[in-house]
Amino acid sequence: MHKISRRRFTAALGTTAVTLSAPKWISALGSAEKKASALALDPLRPQFHLLPAANWMNDPNGPIFFEGRYHMFYQYDPFGAFWGSMHWAHGTSPDMVHWHHEPIAIAPTPNGYDRDGVFSGAIVLDRGTPTAIYTGVAPPPSPSDATLKDGAHTWREVQCLAISHDGMRTWQKARDPILSSPPDALNVTGFRDPCLWREGDEWRMVLGSGVAGKGGAILLYRSTDLRHWTYLHPLIEGSPSTSKSVNPVDTGEMWECPDFFSLGDRHALLISTMGRVFWKVGQYKDQRFLPEKEGTVDFGAYYAARTMLDRDGNRILWGWIPETRPEKEHKAAGWAGVMSLPRVLTLAPDGTLRMAPSPAVETFRGELVQVRGPLDSAPAAKSLAAMRIRNLAAELEVTFVPDANHPFSLELRSEADEPFATLAYRPEGTGGDLSINKTHAVLAAPAGQPLRLRLFVDGSVLELFANDTAAITERVYTAPQTPLKIAPRPRSAVTEIAVWPMKPISSDRLTS
Ligand code: FRU
Repeated sequence: MHKISRRRFTAALGTTAVTLSAPKWISALGSAEKKASALALDPLRPQFHLLPAANWMNDPNGPIFFEGRYHMFYQYDPFGAFWGSMHWAHGTSPDMVHWHHEPIAIAPTPNGYDRDGVFSGAIVLDRGTPTAIYTGVAPPPSPSDATLKDGAHTWREVQCLAISHDGMRTWQKARDPILSSPPDALNVTGFRDPCLWREGDEWRMVLGSGVAGKGGAILLYRSTDLRHWTYLHPLIEGSPSTSKSVNPVDTGEMWECPDFFSLGDRHALLISTMGRVFWKVGQYKDQRFLPEKEGTVDFGAYYAARTMLDRDGNRILWGWIPETRPEKEHKAAGWAGVMSLPRVLTLAPDGTLRMAPSPAVETFRGELVQVRGPLDSAPAAKSLAAMRIRNLAAELEVTFVPDANHPFSLELRSEADEPFATLAYRPEGTGGDLSINKTHAVLAAPAGQPLRLRLFVDGSVLELFANDTAAITERVYTAPQTPLKIAPRPRSAVTEIAVWPMKPISSDRLTS
């Protein structure tokens, strides 16, 4: 029998603290071990992305660089690979990419104000003390107190505070919520996901919200001590939706997960709604945000983004990569959800948002294999024919010059001829169309100018970046039996192809 620690055993079982009598403990050990090894061997489970040892995860929460280490918290259900009882799980890393699992950080308090879920939020340092501010959910005292009604749940959302004195391992919750109801005059469609910053001698907090019949909104509050809050006004408001749904998030009448920060000489706001993360860049004046440019952060499986500053002061973006396969399948697989790779945000000269994988990701790279165009020469064609992506763990970089009249494609297909993924770029009209399998993004790339694609293949996760301006995160649930070959078309368009095998974070796909 393999040795397995009590902590690992309980974590693999998916519960926080359980006390089991000896016979049960021994009989359960076999299945827990079996479950852990199935996860460690699952070829669809990523190897260089952060994900929990097992079970469900969604939004990144309170990412922060603190006392020399990166801390990532995220929405986590310890009871299975489905969304349900939300906790804050915790991971730490020296470099933002090599992660280590820590014990669960914050759990719902039975009968407490967050009894039905510790939802998303932020961490700030209050004169050095890590302070988590998150949304707690519980049944509403009366139907009119409900702020979350999505057709499946009816809850009251309150804003909660917890502090840590031991490097963010354990957290002490405040006795009462710090904000227990939305502004009186507003008939809100939601009231959650705090984001905070310091402004002069005060704190500011924004909450994701919306007003029925009027559209999404971000509510702005101020405080001097993080515990007493005064509502100011909406930081920004959306417009009414033309579609109808019981869940206001589906129509854009509820904006979730706001993230607001300065970037270059502007401010940027991220919101999550209608299954996408949207960015807006503009001016922050008189406590209101006036957007000048806007766009989509990622056109694929990507949601609930949140940012932090890295140790060098770069603005780093994190996002939740959800599953796109049926719930039945991820429940059976025993895991669901992945954290995106860290992406550095900057402003382009025209004020649009730019996004590139953090250089920290390059520490996973193994030995580079590269071929330069033109690919029609016999030696170049031979090098390309020998290029492979092995174990579904690689970074692929392709530079090509789009031709105004011809689409470009790049196929990844196994040696045994199993299809895996097709990337394509069609220069159509004014905006070009970038795609990976069936997922499309708008990407205008001038004909005659090189276009650079960077693709990270990690098990079932594919993160694609084009010219640092458009991104698509795609999921592929077929694991080819043999290594992948790389086939660009037309070959004459390619100026360079580079492939790096990526080294895993751990030898067991982060199941320990
Ligand atoms: C976004 C979200 C947040 C909420 C959390 C709950 O994915 O719905 O609005 O806080 O997930 O898990």
